[in-house]
Amino acid sequence: MSIKGFRENFMWGGAIAANQVEGSYDKDGKGPNISDVVKVVRPEDRKKMKLPFPTTEEVKEALANKNDKDYPKRYGIDFYNRYKEDIALFKEMGFKTLRVSISWGRIFPNGDDLEPNEAGLKFYDDLFNELHKQGIEPVVTLSHYETPVHLALEYGGWTNRKLVDFFERYAQTVFTRFKDKVKYWITFNEINAIMMSPYIGGAFLRDQVKDEDILQAKFQSAHHQFVASAKAVKALHETIPDGQIGCMVIGMLNYANTTHPEDVLEALNDQRNTFFFTDVMARGHYPAYMTRFFDDNGIVIEKDESDEKVLQENLVDYVALSYYMSSVSARPETEGERVAGNIMSSLKNPYLEASDWGWQIDPKGLRTLLNMFTDRYEKPLFVVENGLGAFDKVEEDGSIHDEYRMAYLREHIREMREAVADGVDLMGYTAWGPIDLISFSTSEMSKRYGFIYVDQDDYGNGTLDRSRKDSFYWYQKVIETNGRDLD
Ligand code: BG6
Repeated sequence: MSIKGFRENFMWGGAIAANQVEGSYDKDGKGPNISDVVKVVRPEDRKKMKLPFPTTEEVKEALANKNDKDYPKRYGIDFYNRYKEDIALFKEMGFKTLRVSISWGRIFPNGDDLEPNEAGLKFYDDLFNELHKQGIEPVVTLSHYETPVHLALEYGGWTNRKLVDFFERYAQTVFTRFKDKVKYWITFNEINAIMMSPYIGGAFLRDQVKDEDILQAKFQSAHHQFVASAKAVKALHETIPDGQIGCMVIGMLNYANTTHPEDVLEALNDQRNTFFFTDVMARGHYPAYMTRFFDDNGIVIEKDESDEKVLQENLVDYVALSYYMSSVSARPETEGERVAGNIMSSLKNPYLEASDWGWQIDPKGLRTLLNMFTDRYEKPLFVVENGLGAFDKVEEDGSIHDEYRMAYLREHIREMREAVADGVDLMGYTAWGPIDLISFSTSEMSKRYGFIYVDQDDYGNGTLDRSRKDSFYWYQKVIETNGRDLD
């Protein structure tokens, strides 16, 4: 039986985010964003998933704190100054594409400014030029946990409808400026993250919303992001007619803990934490199941009259997802060992191994999930994040034998290939963190995803030199053979 392979122009590459690589957080007119005030999590706490939800005072204190070493996303891996060297290495691996984000605050330092910051636009102009020079197609995320902090402090983040207008202005500005350089766009990174992290996803602060109103505030913020996303889709289609724009979610697959009907129902409900978001952006309306959920939880979403039309008329061209692990759902009274995870914790799945950070590794789950998305939307899919965060050991001669990383990626790519044979229309695959970068959840450096090693420790010490791990040559071969040779 012959297995259908990846399409000829499959978009192989890697994905990074401005706030985790660029550094230079206050250079050339950039305003601070919500990630610049997030403190590092020290090793003893690394397996506790405690995502930040600061108060106004805490954010102000962090802004006044100039000890940048405690805030690793301020310095990143100095991609801002070293991107040419890094892109040359991506090119050497054969990358067809690189997913990056634009840091909103480089373009509009406060988020609500009327005029863009030319120095910020110029940086991305240069970056995209360099990518094209090396034959690498950029895929650009408009918002990857980089909402300007001023919008959190002054407006209550995405709870405030005004952010829709600010985002629209920002999106239109970068579409117009980069229309000849960027054809592939993504609106919000992991838009469903807001359910687990209102600060990172929704940019509102703990003291701005009463505890009992947090769920309401999350859904109101999500609504504003849906409208902002749809308006960006509209602007993109008008400005770059041959461009494509997608939505992006944390691709989570929820297994039922047992065959008990209540566990199965629980899994369905948890699965909707992912599908609700893609349903709105790919089908253009709120799904019926949310009416009951909103009624049961006393949630009333304020909408403008035109919102329904805007959502319906501006569907995304493709659905993008991150995929790192799967999760287990059970009746609330179920007891059992829990494990950490990508933004959320879960019951332990006895059939799966976990990473050094406790994330449950499940390549087969990726095939299942891709099939579920395809059944639901019949749209092209794009795996824009996947990878293994692991400790690496540098040998005396400088080499790094990261067989564990290759094993993780190999199995996921194999299952993606199966999914393609199942009928999934897969546009591409961008491995997360092709170069070591600052971790999103813990801001550590020792949680490494890269094919390229960066000499920097958790305290910001090191030469920042780049070097090739064994996986560098392996991924090079994977791309060269369009995913046929995974050994
Ligand atoms: C995703 C994010 O949630 O997971 C990335 O979009 C992030 O920004 C990635 O880096 C891996 O998470 P972490 O916490 O291991 O860096």
